[in-house]
Amino acid sequence: MDASFTTDLRLAPSILSADFARLASEIEDVAGSCDMLHVDIMDGHYVPNLTIGPDVVRSLRAVTDLPFDTHLMITDPRTFGPQFVKAGSTSITFHPTEDDDPRGLIQLLHDQGAEVGIAIRPSEPLERFTDLLGDIDLLLCMTVEPGFGGQAFMPEVLPKIELARSLREEQGHHYRIEVDGGIDPDTAPRTVSAGADTLVAGSAIFRKSDRAAAARAILDAAGAATADR
Ligand code: DX5
Ligand code: ZN
Repeated sequence: MDASFTTDLRLAPSILSADFARLASEIEDVAGSCDMLHVDIMDGHYVPNLTIGPDVVRSLRAVTDLPFDTHLMITDPRTFGPQFVKAGSTSITFHPTEDDDPRGLIQLLHDQGAEVGIAIRPSEPLERFTDLLGDIDLLLCMTVEPGFGGQAFMPEVLPKIELARSLREEQGHHYRIEVDGGIDPDTAPRTVSAGADTLVAGSAIFRKSDRAAAARAILDAAGAATADR
């Protein structure tokens, strides 16, 4: 990690927007400028798109020490979550609507040694999941509809981020607040002012020629907003 990281903000480039034919060198490009990699897993059922499975994650585990922040957009997180942990994922974030016993699944993944998050779509109210907030390490607030990179940020999610922050404070929870979708140097500070501390960015990093500069631009813009928190 870059020695200049003194902020509590974390940046997770999403490899969904990278060149899948050369993932190892794409990861190398961002390795010195980020805290972890965001790995989007899609099954063609929960979202109308397909990405990668545990075997690819296992291969990537061998080429980088960066933590893997694994976002499961799949209808069967109970079967595949543990497989991604075994493949080398550091954290597993799943959509809690996709399991009959999300609290049990959080426990199962914790028992495997993973950090665990839940992900919430833009249209889903946080109130629906308050019973899980004491158990998680990460609350991923989707700021686009899940499924594709390169979509426009949805500012209507900002009040949910504010609520996530105030509930954490009131109830003494410890989860980080992650935003995912349309994050760039303009939108990142808005989410940070609302309470986000973990930023996922795909196209704003991998679709630029200088990935390190693009990552720094997001962190610099976001860092300036931490004073509002
Ligand atoms: C969308 C994924 C995101 C995606 C974000 O379903 O969960 O992680 O990679 O891409 P950008 O940053 O391009 O919106
Ligand atoms: Zn994601």
